[in-house]
Amino acid sequence: MSPQNLLDAEDLARRRLPKSVYDYYRSGAWDEISLARNREAYSDLEIHPRVLVDVSVRDRSTTLLGTATGMPILAAPTAFHRLAHPDGEAATARALAAVNAIMVLSSLSTTAVEEVAAAGGTVWFQLYANRDPAITRALVERVVAAGCRAIMLTADTPVWGVRERDVRNGFHLPPGLGPVNLANLDPEGEARSRQGSGMGQAFDWMLHPALSWKELESICGWSPVPVLLKGLARGDDAARAIEAGCAGVVVSNHGGRQLDTVPATISVLPEVVEAVAGRGLVLVDGGVRRGTDVLKAIALGADAVQIGRPQLWGLACDGETGVQRVFEHLAHELRVAMALAGCPDLAAITSDLVRPR
Ligand code: FNR
Repeated sequence: MSPQNLLDAEDLARRRLPKSVYDYYRSGAWDEISLARNREAYSDLEIHPRVLVDVSVRDRSTTLLGTATGMPILAAPTAFHRLAHPDGEAATARALAAVNAIMVLSSLSTTAVEEVAAAGGTVWFQLYANRDPAITRALVERVVAAGCRAIMLTADTPVWGVRERDVRNGFHLPPGLGPVNLANLDPEGEARSRQGSGMGQAFDWMLHPALSWKELESICGWSPVPVLLKGLARGDDAARAIEAGCAGVVVSNHGGRQLDTVPATISVLPEVVEAVAGRGLVLVDGGVRRGTDVLKAIALGADAVQIGRPQLWGLACDGETGVQRVFEHLAHELRVAMALAGCPDLAAITSDLVRPR
C-alpha cells in the first residue's frame, strides 16, 4: 500500500530501513524535546477560515530569490541520501525537478554536486564553512560552477549535537559511502574520519567552531550567488544576518538535532519576520508534515517552508518516485487547506487566519 501522507511514509520507511539508519534520520538531540515541540507547536495553532471566497483556482506558485517555483516547499538539506536508496541525491534532485520545487543539497551529499545539478531543477547548496577560508571558497566556486544558484550557510552547528540513539547504535557510515563533494578538500580531515567511531567524532573536522559574523560578512562579499543563513531562532540574529549581507534567513533548529529544549521554530517565526522586516527571504523548517502546517507558516510570515526527514522517508520507500509523491502529497494538502481557508493564492494567506489555541 502506498503512503497516504507524510506520516505514513515514515511508517513505511521505518519498516524498510536498517534500524541504525532509521534512527540516524529520525533522531533528535538528548531528550528530543525540541524535536517533539516542532510538531506540537503546529497543533497549538488554529486556523480561522474565511468563507464564500472564490477558490475555484488556487495558485501555490511563488518566486524565491528570482526563481519561479511551483510550491512554497523546499527540500531541506539532509545528509547521506545513499543510506536511504542507492540512487541517493540524484534521485531526490530528479523528483524535485519533476515537481518544480527547489532542492537544497547538503554539504554531506553522497553524490557529486555536478550530477545533482544535472537533474535540471533548481539546486541551492548548504554550506558548512571550513576552518580554512580557502577551502570554503573553493567549495563554493565548485558548486556555483556546477549550477547551484544560492548558498545556505548553516549557523547552528559549531559542533555536532548529541544524538544518543546514534551513540547507542554505534552508528557509522558503511564503507564506500561518504561526503564526496568534500573529498580532496581536506585530506587530513578525511583520513581522520575513517578512524572515527561515531558521527560526532568522524565529521568534527568539517565544522568550524569559530565561525563569526565577520566571516559571514566576508562570504556574503565574495559569494557570486545569494547567501542565506540557516539555523537561527532569534530576531536580533536575523537582523544581523541581513545587515551582514544575507539575502535571507532560515528559521531552523536543525530538526531538533542540535541544542535540545530550544523553542519550536514556528513559535519564533513571527519574531524573525518582524526583525527581517521585508529586507530578505524568511524560510522555516522543523516539523512541517501537513498542508495546514505550510499554511500556518505562510500566514505567520514565512516565504516558504522546508521539509527534511519526509524526503528521506520517500526516498527509502520508493526512490525518486517516493520523493516525488511526498512533495505531491504535501502540495495537494496545501491546495485543499487553501480552498477550505478561503485563500485563492499565497498572498491571501494572511496573519489573521492563524491564532493560538
Ligand atoms: C538534517 N539537517 C541538516 N541541515 C544542514 O544544514 N545540513 C545537513 O547536512 C543536514 N543534515 C541532516 C540530516 C538529517 C538526517 C536530518 C533529519 C536533518 C537539518 C535539516 O536541514 C532541517 O533543518 C530539518 O530536517 C527540518 O526538520 P524536519 O522537517 O526534519 O522535521
